[in-house]
Amino acid sequence: MTQQKIGSVTFHSVAMLAPMAGVSDRAYRELCMRHGAAYCVSEMVSSKALSFQSKKSEELMVISALERPCGIQIFGDEPSCMADAARRALQNKPDIIDINMGCPAPKISGNGSGSALMRKPELVGDIVRAVTAVCDVPVTVKIRKGWDNSSVNAVEIAQICERAGASAVTVHGRTRMQFYKPPVDYEIIRRVRQSVQIPVIANGDIDSAPKALEVMERTGCGLVMVGRATLGNPWLFEQINALLAGEAPYTPSLSEKLDTMVEQVERMAVYKGEYIAMRQARKLVIGYFKGMKGAATLRKEAGKLSTLADLYALKKHILHT
Ligand SMILES: Cc1cc2nc3c(=O)[nH]c(=O)nc-3n(C[C@H](O)[C@H](O)[C@H](O)COP(=O)(O)O)c2cc1C
Repeated sequence: MTQQKIGSVTFHSVAMLAPMAGVSDRAYRELCMRHGAAYCVSEMVSSKALSFQSKKSEELMVISALERPCGIQIFGDEPSCMADAARRALQNKPDIIDINMGCPAPKISGNGSGSALMRKPELVGDIVRAVTAVCDVPVTVKIRKGWDNSSVNAVEIAQICERAGASAVTVHGRTRMQFYKPPVDYEIIRRVRQSVQIPVIANGDIDSAPKALEVMERTGCGLVMVGRATLGNPWLFEQINALLAGEAPYTPSLSEKLDTMVEQVERMAVYKGEYIAMRQARKLVIGYFKGMKGAATLRKEAGKLSTLADLYALKKHILHT
């Protein structure tokens, strides 16, 4: 396996953890890096909120030594505000600054940010230039296939990003209007890969080690980004690494899964307090129940978690039924 690089940053494996708001917090990033992820990115951080000194946004940018290399992702639609946000982000010493041009959520794209930027190629160039001008680390951009099927422009946008100084682009092979469901178009990712010199990271629906290798093969990308399929399954990174190395994939036991679930939530509680952590954990622990006996009941129980003690009791219950 050839070693992959983005600018000056070297990766020791090929699968990255996708930025996921409400999911890829520091606790989860640390866990995924320990399980063999090549790289991780913060949850998206609003450039506007940073300009108001939002404490919550500042907290999203805290990076620990256990999650290197790690990027900070920012979003917004004003070049100067985005450059200011990048400056603030750099105080946390990220290895990479990533710009979000893929978020489909109406709250983000309705304000001209995220995937809405795919409709404004000129502004894309202005934002990437403004951010790269203030950064001494590589700047990457996460894009989609286009806004909708009648305006597929990932190739054009990627080329603009490259000319404006971006060191890599990640392509989620769906349009904004497709959100997260229809099949991913890996052909568009391949076309982007062929039309720029910078690394292209393939993203969308990679849910197993064989699928990761298939996507690398189909797109020609040396790096892939994995999001939802890692939920409750950080072992996916190790499985991808093992398959690439021709080794047998590792499958965790039930007790290891539960220990990892508890560890993730305990770390969340340390970093953001038990109250907030437990409320967020209600959704996150569900991933660990996939394939378990009585998963539907367990999901209901997860919805009631209020303290770490509740989580320990749930773990005990699962182990003894
Ligand atoms: C809950 C959730 C939150 C997300 N938040 C972000 C985000 O903050 N920034 C971003 O660029 N993409 C975000 N995404 C998109 C993912 O990074 C990724 O592109 C998408 O989930 C497709 O990859 P997957 O099929 O491997 O999950 C989010 C996706 C999900 C499901």
